[in-house]
Amino acid sequence: MVRKFFVGGNWKCNGTAEEVKKIVTVLNEAEVPSEDVVEVVVSPPFVFLPVVKGLLRPDFQVAAQNCWVRKGGAFTGEISAEMLVNLGIPWVILGHSERRSLLNESSEFVGDKVAYALSLGLKVIACVGETLQQRESGSTMAVVAAQTKAIAAKVSYWDNVVLAYEPVWAIGTGKVATPAQAQEVHLELRKWLHDNVGAEVAVSTRIIYGGSVNGANCKELAGQPDVDGFLVGGASLKPEFIDIIKSAT
Ligand code: G3P
Repeated sequence: MVRKFFVGGNWKCNGTAEEVKKIVTVLNEAEVPSEDVVEVVVSPPFVFLPVVKGLLRPDFQVAAQNCWVRKGGAFTGEISAEMLVNLGIPWVILGHSERRSLLNESSEFVGDKVAYALSLGLKVIACVGETLQQRESGSTMAVVAAQTKAIAAKVSYWDNVVLAYEPVWAIGTGKVATPAQAQEVHLELRKWLHDNVGAEVAVSTRIIYGGSVNGANCKELAGQPDVDGFLVGGASLKPEFIDIIKSAT
């Protein structure tokens, strides 16, 4: 089973209308492997989704960085999954550690969000990852397994799910996980999927790594057998994002 390499760019809460157009111009002018080799999804802030979708090259896709947990209504400030569908936005990032920590999104809430987004036909990048304290206490796998279990408890259709392992201690710190550290957790997550969801899902689900990925470290990480791609933050705003896309194996 060949899993198509996946590179996501999470722009987070960054950009102006002018900066966003400049980033899209760099992306549109880049020579990259075909979409048969690598799937590229960029995720601007909500306010720039329509303009990015309208300007972006047709072989790249866009994602929202979040969506609400149920049908829209009296939820001030939220963006509904229905709105993403209406705008033709195919992907959404859910369960990012910054939302888990800053907005107290529980694993159960993330599981409900993933299930609802999938029910509307959206494709989901579902994030899991441990804190430095959890890693240093030896509970990495217990933590990411529990986060994945909360998603699996609500999800029956995995074809539209990409699982992103993002160790919190590597996000935005420059302290990228070693290839061995990333491979170890990815393999354990794949084993968890095999044992708790099914062999086919385990083999076919892409497990991508996020946390200080850049143009210098991406190739070695991409060479790991269970690293199926990346979810890139800071470097996705820079031309080196193209180098990361080219690391597709
Ligand atoms: O979602 C990807 C992000 O959390 C990784 O951020 O800046 O460490 O690549 P960064």
